[in-house]
Formats: sequence, C-alpha cells, structure tokens
Amino acid sequence: MKTNKGTKANYSFLAKLLHWSFIFLFAYGIFKQIDNINQLEDIYLLKFEMLFALFFLSFLIFRFFYMTKTQETSLPEDTPRSQRLAAKIVHYSMYICLAAIACSGMMIGYLFWLGLKDGLLIELVIWVHEFSVSLIYWLISIHVIAAIFHRLKNDGVWNSMPPFWKENEDDIA
Ligand code: HEM
Ligand code: HEM
Repeated sequence: MKTNKGTKANYSFLAKLLHWSFIFLFAYGIFKQIDNINQLEDIYLLKFEMLFALFFLSFLIFRFFYMTKTQETSLPEDTPRSQRLAAKIVHYSMYICLAAIACSGMMIGYLFWLGLKDGLLIELVIWVHEFSVSLIYWLISIHVIAAIFHRLKNDGVWNSMPPFWKENEDDIA
C-alpha cells in the first residue's frame, strides 16, 4: 500500500527488523569506538574492527536495496512536497553518512596495516571518519525529532515503525 492515510499500511516485518536491529549495531559501533590510533597495533583489534566495519557496510547496503526496492514511505499522501523532499534528504544522508563512517574506518585500518601510521593522508581519513560520526549524530537527532513531530500530529507515520507509544488507530488523522 502506498499510503497510511485512512489505512493500516505499514512497513514489512523485515523492514522493521532491519531498522531496529541496525540501531543496536550502530550503538555497539559507537560503544566500542577506538580512542587512540595506537590501539590498532593490536592485530586482533585491527582485524575485528575491519570485520565489524565490513559487516556494518554489508548490512547497510542490503537494507538500502531492500527498503528502496520493496517499501514505500509511510508519509500520508497529502504531505507537502517540501516535507517529502526533506524526509528523503535526511534518510539518504543517513545512508551516505553511515557508509562513509564504515568506509573511512576501513581506509584507516588499511593505511595503518600498510605502515602509513601517521602523516597527512591518514590524518585526513581520520578527519573524514570523525566528521561523519559528528554528522550522523545530527542527522539521527533530526530524524528522531521528525518522528516525534509525526507522533504528535497523529498521522500514522510513527505507527509504521516504532513498536511503542503507539497511536490509537481510530484517532489517526
Ligand atoms: C541509528 C538510529 C536510526 C537510523 C540510522 C534510522 C534510519 C531510518 C531510515 C533510513 C528510515 C527510512 C526507511 C529505511 O530506509 O529504513 C527510517 C524510517 C523511520 N524511522 Fe528511523 N532511524 C533511526 C532511529 C529511529 C528512532 C529512534 C525512531 C523513533 C523513535 C525512528 C523512527 C522512524 C520512523 C517513524 C520511520 C518511518 C518514516 C517514514 O516512513 O517516512 N527511527 N529510519
Ligand atoms: C562502522 C564501523 C565504525 C564505527 C561505527 C566507528 C565509530 C567511531 C567513533 C564513534 C569514533 C570517535 C569519533 C570522535 O571522537 O569524534 C571513531 C574514531 C576512530 N575510529 Fe572508528 N568506527 C568504525 C570503524 C573503524 C575502523 C574499521 C577503524 C580502523 C581499523 C577505525 C578507527 C578509528 C580511529 C583511528 C579513530 C580516531 C581515534 C582518535 O581519536 O585518535 N574505526 N570511530
């Protein structure tokens, strides 16, 4: 179904599973972050970081194709075009930013493994890595604020994803 307006259109079970399980994966990625590049001297940590980033990126790519090929936004049909565009920009920016975190992380690991442990190149990649991390915090904040805005509007968008603080189906505008 293309819209939730007056219907019970929703994301599939797999779409919800991907959305919520990715949040745990992301939180774990933040939790286990590297505090100092010298930690990568530990080859097991370096390998683990690389494998984690590869898994993270594969998950993200799979999710992106699954979502774009099989699912529709739950925004109501009468949503202004500017708001649709804003939602699309934030969603796509999140995908790009998350991919940039994983790719720059793997680049750091590769350069480190090659022996380029300091210098302009690795510093530049670390800057990209840290900048993408800062940017994703902003994007996620905007995304969550927008989700709460829809929850307060009672337009059914909230119900399409979070399994808690549900809108009453009969009150949906
Ligand atoms: C790491 C944190 C999060 C990321 C990266 C994220 C990412 C996304 C993305 C990319 C979409 C578009 C559909 C898709 O491609 O899966 C989406 C949809 C959605 N998310 Fe999140 N999300 C996060 C956290 C949250 C949280 C905490 C909430 C609510 C409290 C939330 C509520 C929603 C809702 C309601 C939708 C449906 C929006 C629509 O259909 O237009 N998200 N999320
Ligand atoms: C998806 C996977 C990854 C996530 C979610 C992630 C997350 C983070 C976070 C949150 C920070 C702190 C940023 C800041 O304080 O501004 C960070 C820094 C860093 N990460 Fe990653 N990272 C990932 C992959 C990697 C990989 C694969 C490597 C290298 C093998 C790596 C190496 C580093 C380094 C060197 C720093 C900077 C440490 C410093 O402050 O000197 N990261 N990462």
